[in-house]
Amino acid sequence: MTMSPSIVVVALNLLLFLADAALATEPAHFLGVSYGTLGDDLPPPHVALELARSAGAAAVRFYDSNATLLAAASSSGLGFVPGVPNELIPSLSASRRAADAWVASTLLPFRRNPRLRYLFVGNEVLSDPTTKSRWSQLVPAMANLHRALRRHGLGRVKVSTTLGMDALVGQNVFPPSAGVFRPDIVDVAVRPLLAFLERTESYLFVDTYTYFTWTANHTVVPLPYALLEASKFRYHDPGTGLSYTNLLDHMLDAVVAAMCGAGHCGVKLALAETGWPNAGDLDQFGANVRNAATYNRNVARHLASGAGTPRRPGMMRMPAFVFALFNEDLKGGPGTERHWGLFYPNSSAVYEVDLSGRRTAASSYPPLPPATNDAPYPGKLWCMTKKLANGTAVREQVAAACKDEAALCDPVRPGGRCHLPDTVAAHASYVFSAHWNRFSKQYGGWCYFAGLAVETTIDPSHGSCRYPSVIPG
Ligand SMILES: *[C@@H]1O[C@H](CO)[C@@H](O)[C@H](O)[C@H]1NC(C)=O
Ligand SMILES: *[C@@H]1O[C@H](CO)[C@@H](O)[C@H](O)[C@H]1NC(C)=O
Ligand SMILES: *[C@@H]1O[C@H](CO)[C@@H](O)[C@H](O)[C@H]1NC(C)=O
Ligand SMILES: *[C@@H]1O[C@H](CO)[C@@H](O)[C@H](O)[C@H]1NC(C)=O
Repeated sequence: MTMSPSIVVVALNLLLFLADAALATEPAHFLGVSYGTLGDDLPPPHVALELARSAGAAAVRFYDSNATLLAAASSSGLGFVPGVPNELIPSLSASRRAADAWVASTLLPFRRNPRLRYLFVGNEVLSDPTTKSRWSQLVPAMANLHRALRRHGLGRVKVSTTLGMDALVGQNVFPPSAGVFRPDIVDVAVRPLLAFLERTESYLFVDTYTYFTWTANHTVVPLPYALLEASKFRYHDPGTGLSYTNLLDHMLDAVVAAMCGAGHCGVKLALAETGWPNAGDLDQFGANVRNAATYNRNVARHLASGAGTPRRPGMMRMPAFVFALFNEDLKGGPGTERHWGLFYPNSSAVYEVDLSGRRTAASSYPPLPPATNDAPYPGKLWCMTKKLANGTAVREQVAAACKDEAALCDPVRPGGRCHLPDTVAAHASYVFSAHWNRFSKQYGGWCYFAGLAVETTIDPSHGSCRYPSVIPG
């Protein structure tokens, strides 16, 4: 017997309906991984997605909507989260038609894929004061996309955006009950955002890194607390009387406190990013394979347990993403920035991890290398030009550094204490060290210089030429 085409269509639709229904009853919790692509040596998408799966990831999160990557993710069987780039927010907020067109051209191919469940509109938009005009455009863009998704049969897709912890005043989480949104964003963006998320039953996605809070405060906050390791340490919140056993719950509850303070206690919370760097420069501490593996394994176990946070017990059924799939060599900034990966670009694992959270006993993993840099480097550091660095590029970096503060470069000018030896590399090493010394405690001051510089413990000073140094910690 052959079925008529219309019966085939009905049967097909029934199957799709059943697939949708099965997914709808799945627990809302899953742990995925961020598939960042800022590397010039990353494997092709099908390999990357297989690696994500091998690490137990249930989903991958993208920072844009590259059609090739979305198509590969869609056929991988993993969940996948596209991102709307920040630059598109003005046009998508201004016009429903633009939002319709974006959804039609970008997401319509995946209409039948029930594993497309979330869309992130912008990334840490409220962290960027140089594009303040987007703050008020964020929620209108989200609303236009939400409407467009429904029009195109994608109503199941929850629209959200990601917030950095700097959405809180002073990034302060001590105590958690003191968490409060910055006054410069609360009316223009945060309240409308929370109202939108509440109305559409979506989640507030936050980027929560215990690593940064711990490094900023490592003399007071114990490392096991930041790594979600069992220890006797408890943090008592005098505002609520609640007691905390780990810094992740602690930080999430600070966001809950801020939401309640803004009048929207009911919004669900989710994690767009969390993680721990597996390596870094000499002036960064605590960034190593032992800590990264320990943190991500513990997060997987903790989220899978459904324990929730002290403020929301049992409520931790939430989507979450570990940052990141790969170490990404094209990222700027401190060395840690290029070392968040579960995998090296050559596809070998930095350490074993099962993000599904099913592997609970630490003993079920092979032993980890000991941590060697859990405290700040105790001596001085200098910033030197890398051997064999491209001379033209080095000159450009020196020119840019001297532009930041001309006086830094006086010693290498003719007649200056550090003019000799008169080579590009020697001048650059002096300028890099001086610039790093001047700006290391501020944003933008790393020993990086487009990857042309490297930290050293050996004082390069000679004669009357003393190189400025940096003391970590
Ligand atoms: C999309 O990703 C693929 C695979 O990584 C890459 O080759 C391509 O250049 C990207 N396309 C765009 C428009 O960014
Ligand atoms: C460090 O921790 C203490 C409490 O343990 C807190 O009072 C202080 O604000 C924290 N500092 C930072 C920068 O987080
Ligand atoms: C992959 O790269 C890492 C880091 O560079 C290296 O330690 C490791 O030996 C490489 N693995 C293979 C199989 O080449
Ligand atoms: C050296 O750097 C310059 C300026 O950044 C660049 O244009 C050039 O292609 C580089 N040369 C090599 C061999 O990488």
